[in-house]
Amino acid sequence: MNSFFDYKTVELTEKNGLPALKILDQTLLPNKVEYLELNTPESIFDAIYKLRVRGAPAIGVAAGYAVYVLTAIEADRLEKETGAETSPELMTFLDETADYLISARPTAVNLEWAVKRVVKAAKAAEKDFNFKAVTGGITEHGVGLNLRVVRALKEEAAAIHTEDIEMCRKIGENGLELLKPGMGILTHCNAGALATSGIGTALAPIYCGHEKGYDFKVYADETRPLLQGARLTSWEMSRAGVDVTLICDNMASTVMKQGKIQAVITGADRIAANGDAANKIGTSGVAILAKEYGIPFYVAAPSSTIDESCESGVDIVIEERPGEEIYKAWYEKPMAPEGVKTFNPAFDVTDHKYIAGIITEKGIWRP
Ligand code: MRU
Repeated sequence: MNSFFDYKTVELTEKNGLPALKILDQTLLPNKVEYLELNTPESIFDAIYKLRVRGAPAIGVAAGYAVYVLTAIEADRLEKETGAETSPELMTFLDETADYLISARPTAVNLEWAVKRVVKAAKAAEKDFNFKAVTGGITEHGVGLNLRVVRALKEEAAAIHTEDIEMCRKIGENGLELLKPGMGILTHCNAGALATSGIGTALAPIYCGHEKGYDFKVYADETRPLLQGARLTSWEMSRAGVDVTLICDNMASTVMKQGKIQAVITGADRIAANGDAANKIGTSGVAILAKEYGIPFYVAAPSSTIDESCESGVDIVIEERPGEEIYKAWYEKPMAPEGVKTFNPAFDVTDHKYIAGIITEKGIWRP
């Protein structure tokens, strides 16, 4: 929890004596605040796919805990079924679960990054257990492979969670160096508290400035088609007492031209080695507009969002989502003829030439 925002996006809980993943269902916001307790691979996959939990860092935290929760439940099942505390098949389950969860959404690198990180910790625990079993080294009495693996997963997932909270605060402090009191700031999508477990990435410098009485005027793009700006950013910022104005995506040029915007800050889902950054669809258009009006465009993201295996934005896989999200999902009645041809890429890539700086927890990268 943080001082700006009184809801936890992701946390661990218990259900029937076993761990479960608890998430704030973001598809219901701003009209309903409802939590879900999930403990099956399908329900967690569905929650990530349907954006019940969303935003690259929050997806990472949820996925880390998800691997732990599902493996712990499987270990419990195996123990009840076979009585064994060491089940090599648990490692197969772990690998399959990891691949399954990673496949839920392809663009946000934090999903894959977090899952691979907890799996690596589990494999290290397995290796240590096997090594001691072979060499006769000192092992903890009565602690089988399963418990060690489950413990390692829980510790690593909790570490990702703690680091995420700290990372947000550091991004906020670093990003604030670029801002001045009274500035008008445009943001796209939601890269705030709801997208992380801390105070957000793109919104973190704004919250840090707000704490110091900087009196920013924030403009939130509604962010078609899933309305993260309207439903989430304007909700969490107004709750925090920030002066936020909601605009339609196609109004960005107008507010820039009218001199209302002095900086643009967005988040990122994956940043290539050359600085090209994938973020919510529409971001690249905002960046191009900002260049035209001489407004600095900043990307704020944890260093875990930087994917050095992607040389440039061309290598970033862009998620395509069902066309119904464009004309049906948020309306009482379809707003286009049934069966209309649609194209619904969830992200776009902003060329690094439009990015004035990338704000990370380690500092600001300049071109
Ligand atoms: O599809 P979403 O809502 O998960 O997309 C979110 C974004 O594009 C965010 O800007 C990005 O994940 C950064 S969140 C700190």
